[in-house]
Amino acid sequence: MKKIVLGLSLLALCACSAKTDTKFVDKALNYCSAQTNRTLAELKGVSGIDYTMMPRNILRDCTKWNCRKATKEEWTSGFWSGVLWYDYEFTRDPKIKYEAEQFTNSLAFLSHTPAYDHDLGFLVFTSYGNGYRLTRNIAYKKIILNMADTLATLFNPKVGTILSWPREVKAKGWPHNTIIDNMINLEMLFWAAKNGGNKRLYDIAVSHADHTMKYQFKPDYSCYHVALYDTVSGKFIKGITHQGYSDKSMWARGQGWAIYGFTVCYRETGNKKYLDFAQKLADAYLKRLPKDKIPYWDFDVPGIPNVPRDASAAAVVASSLLEMSTYLNNPKGTEYKEDAVAMLQILSSPVYQSGNRNPAFLLHSVGHWPNNSEIDASIIYADYYYIEALLRLKKLNEGHKLFKNYSI
Ligand code: GLY
Repeated sequence: MKKIVLGLSLLALCACSAKTDTKFVDKALNYCSAQTNRTLAELKGVSGIDYTMMPRNILRDCTKWNCRKATKEEWTSGFWSGVLWYDYEFTRDPKIKYEAEQFTNSLAFLSHTPAYDHDLGFLVFTSYGNGYRLTRNIAYKKIILNMADTLATLFNPKVGTILSWPREVKAKGWPHNTIIDNMINLEMLFWAAKNGGNKRLYDIAVSHADHTMKYQFKPDYSCYHVALYDTVSGKFIKGITHQGYSDKSMWARGQGWAIYGFTVCYRETGNKKYLDFAQKLADAYLKRLPKDKIPYWDFDVPGIPNVPRDASAAAVVASSLLEMSTYLNNPKGTEYKEDAVAMLQILSSPVYQSGNRNPAFLLHSVGHWPNNSEIDASIIYADYYYIEALLRLKKLNEGHKLFKNYSI
């Protein structure tokens, strides 16, 4: 009897917390919809929307989006379409679908452009990837498959990884360079290999992940932003930073890319070593977080606590912890989910939501501190991973699987 009562109260507790989650998630997603419509109204202005101009950031204390032309050099160009696709997934509003299609189409030029750098997954899987997932538009599929082949042209088999920034080989004297962000682009390769593309793309993604795991982390499981390899011999030379505080420090968003990327590698390969590794990376990150679970832009920067937070890193990590939690049928999995929910709750509070201050979803991200760029700003990729994470949580609360459309 005691057991039954305990069981029932546990059930009631779970149901109650799931309910609470749903309430905050729906409210936050409705907020995202309202902000998305505000942005569309702003972009429309008096002369109509220029679909080649993508919202990139709103600087601190400013109220309007700075838009950037969708070019091969502009790595964030896919996120706004991705936000629209996610908002369409939530609202099923045909007007939002129309806008998502228009912005997505502005990236079609990439499918007949040689690779400028590794960011093709960021550009294409956010826009065409989400578009295909929701519409099954065959033209989108063709573009994603093309882009995966284009990304593969940067793979160096001698090294075993994708070259992230061809331009820096000469400009910075960095030979074969691989940045941790590149882990995010692997999802498109895995997807392509399973959806009619070349099977070699799968092997490239696995090779990239394995070499990154071997060389791009310090003993405390924090990552180097950049790994340098000898282009000819393929040997690892050294790990350094580019956007972090120092080579030895833990740059928050870089660690987020790593956690997210290795979680995806587990989803796509079923190889448990990636899940174990993703957990180690997540634990290294989680144990150093401040109380409210939103990281300083770098965990080792002098001046903490008087330095800016990075909401974008928090959103990336929250989204990947939700996915990771679904692969762990144990207390650790529950903890990851609770951590993710706590992060999303704080991000959904007036401290982090832009509210009336500007039409983005979130305030307080840091783009590139060493370049003094986008400090304590609203940045489009923070919004993208925030709405992604909210939708993931909503699906989990409703008992759906997260990856029924394109998982292994
Ligand atoms: N991919 C560049 C960044 O995370 O800022």
